[in-house]
Amino acid sequence: MGEVSQHIYQLREDFMKGVLSEHDVFPVPSLQFEKWMKEAVDARIPEAQAFHLGTVSAEHKPSSRIVYLREFDDDQFYFYTNYQSRKGHDIEANSHVSMCFFWPELERQVRLEGTVQKAEALKSDTYFSVRPAESKIGAWSSPQSQVLKDREALESLVKENTAKFTGDIPRPEFWGGYVITASYYEFWQGRKSRLHDRISYKNHNGQWLIERLAP
Ligand SMILES: Cc1cc2nc3c(=O)[nH]c(=O)nc-3n(C[C@H](O)[C@H](O)[C@H](O)COP(=O)(O)O)c2cc1C
Repeated sequence: MGEVSQHIYQLREDFMKGVLSEHDVFPVPSLQFEKWMKEAVDARIPEAQAFHLGTVSAEHKPSSRIVYLREFDDDQFYFYTNYQSRKGHDIEANSHVSMCFFWPELERQVRLEGTVQKAEALKSDTYFSVRPAESKIGAWSSPQSQVLKDREALESLVKENTAKFTGDIPRPEFWGGYVITASYYEFWQGRKSRLHDRISYKNHNGQWLIERLAP
């Protein structure tokens, strides 16, 4: 076993910061999510809005990456990206996705599952318009997920686009928002001796079924 591997093999953390009971959670998961997200933001957890996004390709191969949650409302969760990226192609082939937040300082994890679709063009336009100019040029200049010959190839695209767009920078058609509609949530609170609390919500014909899962 390598040195780092040996080190992580022995790492042990006990979780003691909180408890989660099926008797205390909100009857709908979006309110529980809002409460926990607020607590994560209030606790100034770095990158509290970042989540793992899991997608599945046309060949049924899963992949994951971190993206930023930019907006949420009821069971709808928005993020922004390049529609022609690897995740964009996956989503075109399979609209089922998973999300996972980890807030270590609160010893909490939230998992969600649902289906995703492109956000309304107007919503993407609005979000794009408030991004700094450098990020707008970045969106135009990055053929996200494609192979680049070298760093210079990217930098020359940035130069080209900086010269091209002098006034208002429009949103590229290949870039915009996605909205995930969640139909499953799981709230995980770390507890002592790996006996964690896990409360799940399943959407069953429009009703939320709340269950406790074994840790
Ligand atoms: C903290 C963090 C936040 C990120 N936020 C985004 C994001 O909001 N949108 C995005 O397209 N990529 C974001 N990325 C980059 C993605 O993880 C990923 O590299 C990129 O989207 C390409 O993924 P794909 O090839 O699977 O499509 C972020 C990465 C990190 C580490």
